[in-house]
Amino acid sequence: MTHSSSTLSVPSSAAMPKHIAIIMDGNGRWATRRFLPRFAGHAKGVDVVRKIVEACADRGIGYLTLFAFSSENWRRPEEEVSLLMRLFVTALEREVGKMHNNGIRLKVVGDLSRFDAKLQDMIVNAERKTANNSNLTLTICANYGGRWDVMQAVKKMLAEGDATTSANFTEDELAQHLAMAYAPEPDLFIRTGGEQRISNFLLWQLAYSEFYFTETYWPDFDDGELDKAIASFQLRERRFGRTSDQIVKKQKAS
Ligand code: IPE
Ligand code: IPE
Ligand code: MG
Repeated sequence: MTHSSSTLSVPSSAAMPKHIAIIMDGNGRWATRRFLPRFAGHAKGVDVVRKIVEACADRGIGYLTLFAFSSENWRRPEEEVSLLMRLFVTALEREVGKMHNNGIRLKVVGDLSRFDAKLQDMIVNAERKTANNSNLTLTICANYGGRWDVMQAVKKMLAEGDATTSANFTEDELAQHLAMAYAPEPDLFIRTGGEQRISNFLLWQLAYSEFYFTETYWPDFDDGELDKAIASFQLRERRFGRTSDQIVKKQKAS
C-alpha cells in the first residue's frame, strides 16, 4: 500500500502521531562528556533504540523511523565506521528474534550495496522474517540520504516509464518510488543532541512534519522525553497551507 501526500488531508491535531522519525544524535558527545570512547555512546544508543521501539509500540504508533547512518557518515574515521558496522550486525543478531515475537516489522532503507555481503544478507533475512508483522513498522535508515532517495526514485521511475510520458510524472508517482513508499509521511520529526538541522534525512517526506528539537543526547533519551515530544506535537495546529479558521471548522464538522 502507498500513501498519498499528507498535505492532501488534515489529520486531527490532538491525535497521536502515526509516524515518528528521529535523528538519533549526540552519542559521541554523551561519551566524551563521561571520558569514554565515542563507541560507548553508540553502544548505549542501541539500548535506547530498543526502549524507544517498545515505547512507540505501547503507544500504538504505527511507524517509527530512525536515522542510524547517513550517506555522509562514511567520512568519519575508519575505526568508528567499522565499529558502527559491527554494532549494526550484533544488534540484528540479538534483536530480530525479539522484534519478531513482539509483532514488529523491520525495514532497512538506504543504499545497502555499500555494506558487506554478510550484513546485506542479515538485512534481507530480517526483513523477510518480520514482513507480515503488523504492530509497528520500524525503519532503520542506513547509508541513507534524502538526496540519494529522491535521485533513486526519479531514476527508477524513468527507467520504468516510456520516454514520451516520462517527463509528465506527478508528485504522487515520484513519492511512490521513494524508499519508504510503504509508510505515510512522518507527522513528528525529533532530533536529539541539540543540533537544529536535517543533515540530509527525509527531505521529501518532511515537507509538513512537525519538528521537535531537544538538547538531550540520544543515550539519555527515554519514554518521558518521547512523551514530551508527543505532547508538544499535540499542541501544534497543522494547517497545511490553510487558515486557522478553516482548520477549526473542519475539526468541528468531524
Ligand atoms: C549519532 O551520534 C550517531 C551516528 C551518527 C552514527 P553522533 O556520533 O553523531 O554523536 P555526536 O553528534 O558526535 O555527539
Ligand atoms: C546525522 O547525524 C546522522 C545520524 C544521526 C545517523 P550527524 O551527527 O552525522 O549529523 P551532522 O554531521 O552533525 O550534521
Ligand atoms: Mg552527530
